[in-house]
Amino acid sequence: MKRKPFLAGNWKMNLERKSALDLARALRDAVGNSSERDVAVFPPFVYLDEVVRALAGTSIKVGAQNLCDEKNGAFTGEISAEMLVDVGATTVLVGHSERRHLYGESDELCNRKLQRALAAGLNVILCVGEKLDERDAGRTEHVIGRQTTLGLKGVSAEQMSKLTIAYEPVWAIGTGRNATAEQAGSAHTYLRGVLAGLYDERVAQALRIQYGGSVKPDNIATLMAAPDVDGALVGGAALKAESFLGIVRFK
Ligand code: PGA
Repeated sequence: MKRKPFLAGNWKMNLERKSALDLARALRDAVGNSSERDVAVFPPFVYLDEVVRALAGTSIKVGAQNLCDEKNGAFTGEISAEMLVDVGATTVLVGHSERRHLYGESDELCNRKLQRALAAGLNVILCVGEKLDERDAGRTEHVIGRQTTLGLKGVSAEQMSKLTIAYEPVWAIGTGRNATAEQAGSAHTYLRGVLAGLYDERVAQALRIQYGGSVKPDNIATLMAAPDVDGALVGGAALKAESFLGIVRFK
């Protein structure tokens, strides 16, 4: 099955208002309404509204990097799924390794966030990935299989059309050391098998699995050529129009 490439830029806690809007406008001018590839950006919460407006009328989607697992109420400092929808976000990241490992988010919390996002009508990129010691101990499949299975608990086959999985080995994020095409391909193929087991072959084949971790313009084509790699979730190289466009336009 041919899956449409999905290239996403996670800006993390970077850029300020002007550089965020400059970047959004540069992407708008370059990508416009092109529909051959799905492109999305994930700005910090406080710039979501303005970035959504800057990209209105283009095919570029805007998403959030996180959300609260509660619907509303006394949760100081949190942002709800409905608020994200309200400002025009259409997607949200759940379970990014920085959330899991710096902020202690468990598989159960990721699942509650994912459920909350789906209930609000958001698309979700569920991020999974092993740490270096887990890879070295031969536990990569065990870890990403568990994160995927627990993260998707209670999600129906119909709801899976709202999902993307991002395989992001923790040791490759922000380190300049990307997974090889073989490592990415083998993890992605494993994950597709997990999805076929949880759902069925049709759901597994339709779902897109992005690779993330030190993706750059000069390694994207090789990674995209690996089996079951359908896109990329990009951090550092998504902060400049030139490098992100070099990834979006890979050949
Ligand atoms: P990186 O980050 O491209 O800077 O390695 C990827 C990510 O965390 O999504």
